[in-house]
Amino acid sequence: MDSLTTAFRSGQKPSFPAEAGTLEYAQSLDQQDKLGHLRKEFNIPTRTSLKKKALNGVSPGENDSEDEKSIYFVGNSLGAQPKAVRRALESQLETWASIGVNGHFSTLENSPLSSWQDLAESCARKSVDLVGAAVPEEIIYMNTLTANLHLMMASFYKPTAERHKVIIEWKPFPSDWYAIQSQIRHHNLSPSTSLIEIQPTPDLYLTTESILATITEHAPSTALVLLPGIQYYTGQLLDIKTITAHAHSLGIPCVGWDLAHAAGNVPLCLHDWNVDFAVWCTYKYINAGPGSTAGLFLHQKHHSRNLDRLEGWYGADKSVRFLMEKEFKPGKGASGWQLSNPSAIDLASVSAALGVFESVGERYMERLRGKAVVLTGYLEYLLEGLIREGVGRKGEKQAFRIITPGDPLERGTQLSLMLREGILEGVSKVLAEEGVVCDARKPDVIRVAPVPMYCRFEDVWRFVEIFKGALARV
Ligand SMILES: Cc1ncc(COP(=O)(O)O)c(C=O)c1O
Repeated sequence: MDSLTTAFRSGQKPSFPAEAGTLEYAQSLDQQDKLGHLRKEFNIPTRTSLKKKALNGVSPGENDSEDEKSIYFVGNSLGAQPKAVRRALESQLETWASIGVNGHFSTLENSPLSSWQDLAESCARKSVDLVGAAVPEEIIYMNTLTANLHLMMASFYKPTAERHKVIIEWKPFPSDWYAIQSQIRHHNLSPSTSLIEIQPTPDLYLTTESILATITEHAPSTALVLLPGIQYYTGQLLDIKTITAHAHSLGIPCVGWDLAHAAGNVPLCLHDWNVDFAVWCTYKYINAGPGSTAGLFLHQKHHSRNLDRLEGWYGADKSVRFLMEKEFKPGKGASGWQLSNPSAIDLASVSAALGVFESVGERYMERLRGKAVVLTGYLEYLLEGLIREGVGRKGEKQAFRIITPGDPLERGTQLSLMLREGILEGVSKVLAEEGVVCDARKPDVIRVAPVPMYCRFEDVWRFVEIFKGALARV
C-alpha cells in the first residue's frame, strides 16, 4: 500500500495490479494498512442494529464480528461514532452531576475535557493542523455551519452600489443558497442582479479556468466569493489556493469557503492560502455526531481590523465576560464572534472526535489522506471494471457513470455515481438490504464515501460486489 500512496505523493494516480479484483488483494491492502487500527476506535452500525425499532440498551461495539458490521460509506453525511465520544459525554455528565455550575470554571482531575469556559478554545487548539491555521485564535467552534455563514456575511458582505455581487457555483448546498439569497435581500438587493453562478461543463465539472474567468468578469462589482471546498453533489475538490489568490489579486475584498465536505477529509492550509473565512460542520468527516457544533476560521489579518459584527456575551473577552458591562470588548480573533454560552455537551463530542485525529500523530491529515487516496482509487478502479464489463447495461446506456473527477487531487474520499434514469430506488433498496449505508440524492445520484479512519479495503471490495448484484437485479 505504501507504494500506492507514494505514487500519489509524486503526482501519479494509484494503479492496481491485475489481481486487484480479488477479495484476497483487498485483504492484503488491509493487512498493510498502518491506520487500520483506528477502525477499532469506532462503533459501526451492524446489519442487525440498523433494523432496530426500539432502544434496548445495547450499542454496536466490541463484540460485533466484522461480518456483522455494515459497510458504512456515509461519512460524507454523518460520520461513524468514535468510542471516545461516549466516554467524553459520560465524563461531562458526571462533571455536571458532581460539581454542577462549578464545571464552568473547573474540571475534575483525569477528565479528558477542559472546563466548560475553555472547551470551545480547546477544540480550536486541537484543530490548528486540521484546517491549517497559523494560530488557534483563527478558529472557534460555535453554532452551526449556516449560522456561522450568516455571521461571517454580516461582517464581510457590505454591498455598495458598485460592489454588491456574490459569486457562487451552480449547485450550492441549499442552506448556503438560502443564506446567501436572504443576505442579499436583507440589503434590499435582488439575487437576480447580485448573485452570480459559475456554471459547470455538461459533465458537471467546474473547471478552474471557468471559475477564474467568472471571477475576472465580475471582479469590479463583486463583494464576496463563496465556494465549497468540496462540492457536495459531485465530490469535486476545488483549488482553494489558486481561486482565493486570483480573487484577491483582482481586488475582491473577501473569499469565504464552505468546508462541510473538506474539513477532516483533505489537508487544508487556510492561513497560508490567505482564505478570509471558512465554515464547516463537524458531523461529517469529523465524526462529532448529528448536529454537532460547527467550526469557523477567520484569517489573522482580520483580527486587528475593527470589523462590524453581530455581538453576544460570549464574544466578549474572557477577562470581562462576567463583569456584565455594557461596553463590548471582543475576545481575540475568531472567538470574538461567539454569541452564546455554548453547549458543553456538544463541545465534549467535538473535543473527543478531534482527539481521534490527534491520536494519528504528527501530520495526521496527510497520513489519512495517503490512505484515502488509495481507498477511493481502489473503489474507482473496481467500479470502472463494472462499467467495462457492461454490468446492468441497457442497450447503449451504461448502468452508471462516476461524476466525481478522476484526478485524486480533485476529490476527497467521496465518489458520486450517476445512475441510469429510473433505477435509483431499486439499487438503493438492494444496497440497504445487503447492509450498505450510503446516501442517495434524487433523482439519480448515489454518493459513496469510504472514510480512511474506519473503512477497510475489504469494505470497498464487498460494496462493489453488492452494487454489481444490485445493478444486475434492477
Ligand atoms: C455543503 C454543506 N453546507 C452546509 C450544510 C449545512 O450545515 P448546518 O446544518 O450545520 O448548517 C451542509 C449540511 O450537510 C452541507 O453539506
